[in-house]
This record gives sequence, C-alpha cells and structure tokens, in this order.
Amino acid sequence: MRHLLDVCDLSVDELYSLIATAEDIAANRAKYAHILDGKKLATLFFEPSTRTRLSFEAAMLELGGQVIGFSEASSSSASKGECVSDTARVVANYADIIAMRHPIEGAALAAAEKSPIPIINAGDGGHCHPTQTLADLLTIHRELGRLDDLTIGLCGDLLYGRTVHSLINAMLRYKNIRFIFISPKSLRLPEYTLRALEEAGAQAVETASLEEYMPDLDVLYMTRIQRERFPSMEAYNAVKDSYRLTPDKLESAKATMRILHPLPRVNEIAKSVDDDPRAAYFRQTFNGKLMREALLLFLLSDAAKSAPSNLPKGEKCAEKCPNPKCITNNEYGFEMMCTSLEDGTKKCRYCETKL
Ligand code: CP
Repeated sequence: MRHLLDVCDLSVDELYSLIATAEDIAANRAKYAHILDGKKLATLFFEPSTRTRLSFEAAMLELGGQVIGFSEASSSSASKGECVSDTARVVANYADIIAMRHPIEGAALAAAEKSPIPIINAGDGGHCHPTQTLADLLTIHRELGRLDDLTIGLCGDLLYGRTVHSLINAMLRYKNIRFIFISPKSLRLPEYTLRALEEAGAQAVETASLEEYMPDLDVLYMTRIQRERFPSMEAYNAVKDSYRLTPDKLESAKATMRILHPLPRVNEIAKSVDDDPRAAYFRQTFNGKLMREALLLFLLSDAAKSAPSNLPKGEKCAEKCPNPKCITNNEYGFEMMCTSLEDGTKKCRYCETKL
C-alpha cells in the first residue's frame, strides 16, 4: 500500500503521470464521473483549511465517491485525548482512504504506521504539505510548459511555510533549477531543508530583498507569514509586514513570470495584483482539485494498493527528538525512531529534525 506523506514518495515519472491524469480529467470530465463509485474518503482535519479540505472533498465527489470526516479537532475524539494513530485505525473501518491535516509535525506518518488504508498528508504542522506541491507543479507546468530550467523565487515565511519545504523537495529533482530564497533572517529555511539543498548540490541564493532578483524569476512563490506557528505574538509582529507585492514591484519582472501563492494570503500580495495575467494563484486552487483527483485515483488503484509499503525506514534510538512540535513529544507511547544521515549523524524519522 502506498501513502503520500512527503512529495518524494512519488517518483518524477509518477508526478508526470499525475499531471497527465489531471489534464485528462479536465478535458474529459464525464469519463471520470463514476470511476470511484462506492469508495469513501475520510477528511480528518485537526487544523483549519479551506482549499485543501474542500478540494479533496470536491475531488472525491466528482469521481463518484463519497466523503466523511471532521473539520476541527474539537468535534473529534482528539478533544478527549485520542492519539492520531488510534483515530486513523478506527476511521479505516469506515473509509477507503484518509486525507489528514494536523498541527503536529510527523502526525501523518504516525497515523500511516498503524493504518490499514492509505494516508495522505494534507499538512503536518510546519513540516510538509505534499498535495499543495501537486497543485504547484501542475500550475507551473500549465502556465510555463515545463518543470525544468526554472529560476524560482520563494518569498516570505520559509521557516514555518510547509508548502515551501515540499516544493523545494520536489523541485530538487528537476533539471537546472535555481532557487532564490527571499525572507527576513529569522524566517530562513529550517535545517532539514537546507540539508536537502546541500545534498542535492542545488543552485541557491538568499536575500532579504523582494526586488533584487525580480527580473530573473520564472516563478515567484509568495507565502503568508504563518502567525499560528510563532512562539509569541512579539516575534510574529516583528516580521509580519516584511513583504508586500504590488504592481510597481512587478514592473521589472518578465512578462512570462508567474506568481504563485498557496493561499490564504493576508497582506503579502496587494489585491491590485490579482488582475495581472501573471497572477496564477487562483488558477492554482483549481489545479489543486485536479491533482487531488489524480492522486485519489492513483492511491486507490490496484497497483498502488498492492505495492510494498513506502513508509520511511528507521531504527530505534535512545535520543529524544529536540523539536517540541514533533509528534514524538506530543503523544504518549512513542518509541523514538531515527534515520542515519550521510554525515554519520541522525535525524528524527517523524519530523526530520537533526538529533
Ligand atoms: N493552501 C492551503 O493549504 O490552503 P488551506 O489552508 O485553505 O487548505
């Protein structure tokens, strides 16, 4: 059985195949209207969402399937202390596949370890958000016609922005990608993403300026400063207004450049940018539904269901994960597991923090 916990759970060939399926769904809607008749998706959202939850639900309904689930932890037995793996194990009796969002990093993996049905990570804290990356990849492919040979600027909250971490992991596997990381110093990328960039020998520069590299960019990926992940309001207030994309800042950008944003936005893109043909973020939300349809078809296919488990490998270890937001520090009964790194050190199997 295959799960989708990290975007790298899908090979590059599989990503291209999902893109082709998404395009076919868009062009031949009637062909897919009953393809998942009798199947049920459970959306278990322990954290707020508009796009991810509703696009998953719309995706399943448009494929002929049905949907059950909850949209907040307070209406589930998590509010009574149930652990995420027990929830997944129970819901597996009622559904064929689970899409789960959780504020704690590594929660989707913890659920997948005990689940007899596929788990889709719909966002685990500040760690990753692989299905947003599927939306991002289809958008880039549709708008620019390629996933290779790109200069991508990622701007805003690179520390807590899980969509950024997943997009980088995905783009590291395409040819000739140059990254421009635009953030305040305090919101630079986390260590595990920097490590992935270093291991891949990626072309990357860091800057605090939104304008500096604007003429070079093929894609500008704007992000919201993630207020809910900051340790204090004081820390959030210090950086909350760091960037604001306005029409004048786009004057030096290529006519073919595309602006993406996972949304929701707060104030980092002025509404006056929305009518610029380069603004692709609302088209991106539609693409998210198409890719989630393609993903449901893939994970519920006989081939994926009979495939060997793709859970990340790990070994028992005595150390405690240093990340207070890791699932291993937030639920009882966890046997800590870690994975060895190339340099001989170890990372937490659940949240990837270096031990
Ligand atoms: N992009 C994204 O994850 O949006 P939601 O939080 O609304 O699902």
